[in-house]
Amino acid sequence: MKLAQRLTLKQLRALVAVADSASFTQAARLLHLTQPAISMQIRDMEDVVGQVLVDGRREIHLTAAGEILLRAAREALDGLERAEVELKARMGVAAGTLDVVAITTAEYFVPHLLAEFGRRHPDIVFRLTVDNRERVHALLQENRVDLAIMGQPPRGIALRRIPFAPHRLSFVARPDHRLAAKRNIPVAALSDEHLLLREQGSGTRDNLERFLRANGVKPLAADQLGSNETLKQAAMAGMGIAFLSHHTFAMEAEYGRLQRLDIQDTPVIREWNVVARADRPLTPALEALLEFLQTEGAAMMRAMER
Ligand code: PGA
Repeated sequence: MKLAQRLTLKQLRALVAVADSASFTQAARLLHLTQPAISMQIRDMEDVVGQVLVDGRREIHLTAAGEILLRAAREALDGLERAEVELKARMGVAAGTLDVVAITTAEYFVPHLLAEFGRRHPDIVFRLTVDNRERVHALLQENRVDLAIMGQPPRGIALRRIPFAPHRLSFVARPDHRLAAKRNIPVAALSDEHLLLREQGSGTRDNLERFLRANGVKPLAADQLGSNETLKQAAMAGMGIAFLSHHTFAMEAEYGRLQRLDIQDTPVIREWNVVARADRPLTPALEALLEFLQTEGAAMMRAMER
């Protein structure tokens, strides 16, 4: 057979594309080729191997022989991709894919930070997910992300943690709320109010509870609503006062739909952290992003809050 001498990378890419899309037409589109060209690549490979690789009678799927070759094809192509990243790193270029997870509240600013970083590092591709605390902890625990952006880092995992910007949180309500026009409101005034809460386990909820406890305040009533978006809609609908991270309501404040209440000792100031597992290899791409957030994160976030 002498596969290494007789197969081409083009054929290997065709096989992977057919396997991934389970369709010759889709594979052709993926590789910017015609469908007959893909069929020909597969047929030529079958001639070399001497066995059927793709069974297309009913649905397109790989035969056992096809699966063996597919594994080798993926290894060869992945190896070349890794080599490319290493070669670029030698030239000082940060490249490759970064897996980033942002805690729900961070979704209001993380895309802006990544967009700016991406303009400076066009060879870096992102896979960004937004998830709740529990899932972010699990992704770090299972070592499935390069980094996480969150308020309070989890305990019990050895982490590299870089605080990169202050995290401001305040009480907000509709502009016609009776506290909206008042200045320097004592925290105790919240005892007569109806508060809107995030779900248990949310960092925002935790910060609110700590603030109320520290000030010995128990609100008149509290509704649990589950997400920043729902909290904002409920506050705009006049259901009560929400406690929110500043980035989450910047737009509503700008359009006059929500107003920050001037309550004493607010904004509550915590910090935004970027965290990565201590045992995660520091690739040039990861290092470049950490450095970017550390040096420019705070100024960019401040500009977005206005
Ligand atoms: P959350 O996140 O309220 O969306 O959970 C904020 C934080 O991590 O502090």
